Amino acid sequence: MARKSFGIGLIGSGFIARCHVFGYRQMPVAFPAVKGVPRLEIVSDVTTDLADRAASQFGFARSTSDWRKVVSDPKVDIIDICVPSQLHREIALAAIAAGKTVYCEKPVGLSSAQAKDMALAAVKAKIKSIVGFTYLRNPLLRLASEIVADGTIGEIVSFAGIHNEDYMSDPDAPFSWRCDASVAGKAGALGDLGCHIISIARVLAGEIVEVNCDLRTVYRQRKLADGRLRDVENEDEASALIRFASGAHGTVSSSRIATGAKMRVGFDLVGTRGALRFDGERLGELQLYTRDADGARSGFRTIYAAPSHLPGGALLPGPAHGISFNDLKTIEIRDLVELALGEASPGPDLAEAARIGAIVDAMLESGASRGWATPQF
Ligand SMILES: NC(=O)c1ccc[n+]([C@@H]2O[C@H](COP(=O)([O-])OP(=O)(O)OC[C@H]3O[C@@H](n4cnc5c(N)ncnc54)[C@H](O)[C@@H]3O)[C@@H](O)[C@H]2O)c1
Repeated sequence: MARKSFGIGLIGSGFIARCHVFGYRQMPVAFPAVKGVPRLEIVSDVTTDLADRAASQFGFARSTSDWRKVVSDPKVDIIDICVPSQLHREIALAAIAAGKTVYCEKPVGLSSAQAKDMALAAVKAKIKSIVGFTYLRNPLLRLASEIVADGTIGEIVSFAGIHNEDYMSDPDAPFSWRCDASVAGKAGALGDLGCHIISIARVLAGEIVEVNCDLRTVYRQRKLADGRLRDVENEDEASALIRFASGAHGTVSSSRIATGAKMRVGFDLVGTRGALRFDGERLGELQLYTRDADGARSGFRTIYAAPSHLPGGALLPGPAHGISFNDLKTIEIRDLVELALGEASPGPDLAEAARIGAIVDAMLESGASRGWATPQF
């Protein structure tokens, strides 16, 4: 039976857009049972040259330097937003008004207020949305939430989450849009990285109701392309104490200057009867501890990502055969296509992104006031 095709309009053709394209290309082969497929219709970037180059490298039929033409294109069903945060809201609202499904990159807008605007507009217009909290697509994190739900590790006691990378650890790394509050938002490491681990914390341990956060900008100025120095407008690192609605507590820390850390998105989840550990630098491994009777042989054991964790999928050829970031994007594209088909979606949608944003905003507020803050959902 022919698979229904959905026209993709991609806006932005930088780092993450390329990962989306890997997903679009892999998904039909990796998930043969899915009843829909993406069709690479039109891509845009700021100049005609950049847009044309993206179309030819990525395999899009057409290109434009005007994102509005992507949104109004009758052959486009899904608007894929891969631009910096300051443009998310305007593009998403236009896409919602045009009746298109919205696929937006995290963190979604410059603030939780912007994300909330987008979420409310989507609900009002009955528009479906999905957000690129990519690590949630890892089948091992889905397994982790099943392990929590079936009681294997008992009641959750604490969650210690981290998302550290070192892409700005070199003091001479140039000023980028990620350091500009008007483009990336007031949250630096928290907006870029911390939101991912918050998304995981919420899935595994529930609602976060209070935060107490310390923020630090270590490298206060960075060089522009012309050699002048410009002030960095958001934090390099953040460390927060967190309290969950369940009474569990824990930490969330995030740094973009953590020398040596390439993809340290991970957690220690402690329960009354067992524990889970995950480290994004070992994307295909989940550590499970369950207490045995006399403790003589107790210890964490490794669960490897396996085909059985991805029903109906052919992404993993065998257990422990490796899973990559682009594979997670491929799973995200499967979730997107199923959403467009009208099937049940695992989210997260724009509303969930607004809730994650509210926690980030509370962390910023706490960092400024040096006290506890409550996320305003
Ligand atoms: N899910 C993830 O793990 C993940 C990882 C990296 C980035 N991201 C998110 O993806 C988004 C983009 O980040 P990136 O790393 O790809 O940035 P990037 O700088 O590599 O790419 C951004 C692209 O957007 C283009 N652009 C800017 N203004 C535009 C406009 N008006 N119209 C069309 N194109 C425009 C730029 O020219 C550039 O090609 C951000 O929201 C970021 O947080 C998500």
